[in-house]
Amino acid sequence: MFLRDLWYFGALSSELKPGQHLHRELLGQPILFGRDHQGRAYALKDICPHRGILLSGGEAQQHGDETHVECPYHGWRFRTDGSCAAIPSLTADQAEAMDLSKIRTRAFPVHEDQGLIWIYYGAEDSGEPTIEPPKLDMPEGEKPRMIITDVFNCSVDHAVIGLMDPAHIPYIHRQWWYRTKKSVRDKEKAFGPIERGFSMLPHTPSANSFVYNLLGEGRTTEIQVQIPGLRTEYIKAGGKHITIFTAVTPTNETKTAITIAIYWNHPLLNFVPRPILRLAGETFLGQDRDAVNAQQVGLAYDPNLMLIHDADVQAKWYFRLKDAWTKHRDTGEPFRNPVKPATLRWRS
Ligand code: FES
Ligand SMILES: [Fe+2]
Repeated sequence: MFLRDLWYFGALSSELKPGQHLHRELLGQPILFGRDHQGRAYALKDICPHRGILLSGGEAQQHGDETHVECPYHGWRFRTDGSCAAIPSLTADQAEAMDLSKIRTRAFPVHEDQGLIWIYYGAEDSGEPTIEPPKLDMPEGEKPRMIITDVFNCSVDHAVIGLMDPAHIPYIHRQWWYRTKKSVRDKEKAFGPIERGFSMLPHTPSANSFVYNLLGEGRTTEIQVQIPGLRTEYIKAGGKHITIFTAVTPTNETKTAITIAIYWNHPLLNFVPRPILRLAGETFLGQDRDAVNAQQVGLAYDPNLMLIHDADVQAKWYFRLKDAWTKHRDTGEPFRNPVKPATLRWRS
């Protein structure tokens, strides 16, 4: 159901305070995100191996230079690598006779950068990353300046293809400040493969969008899509950037979390009052959410679906990338990106 051996977006740096726990469901699994006393993020399967209560309900404690997660039920303590450090109910001789290191909850590799916390989902419990964590192409040290989140009541695939699909824009996102019914016209965009994904190659954004026209001269935009469900829009003008990163993360089979992190040093967004920017972003994403949620009513009848040329070719690529990644992991053969350079045409 879910792609493995990939980095998934797990949480925002700003959500994780030292000594606190964050419970989240990712890929149908309960995950505890924490930050140790040295400030390093960690992620554990949020289930106590003793009797199954969520570990995130317990305390993060400092023991020497280690951080331990204390289970709220019987106080068993776990290191940030998942190994059991203590079982308080054991007498001294019982503790001596027992090998605590055999007791563990799964620990996931974690990487934190650019205000984002990534978690590596290996197929095996002990799976070490075989690929580098994603990194946005931005000046060093940038942090998100606005975050917009939502939850779609659909599978990750419908969320991903719903967000990348160009043909819905004049219908779902019809609004005076972005697109109107009259602004629909022929589009032609060049695409090419990138690492584990594809890019709508840098181009001058379409003149039928009022907002893009405010960016000024020399503006280019590029949209990158990568598995497992990462979309990054790079807008550049006059040496400055606006970068809109969207993580589409499966909560479980019927729920998908959307997190949009917006970074910029382009002055345009400084002139837009934050509440208006937020309202615009939430409105936009809310329209996508309402569309995919409404779609679930029809999908419940398991209809046959179609993907057409050229408007749905990006969706086809997404499915082909998933298949190619699964094949690569199953067979051990090198991953071959199935996307070839192409120019796609549609009306939107
Ligand atoms: S359930 Fe966690 S220590 Fe018993
Ligand atoms: Fe949309």
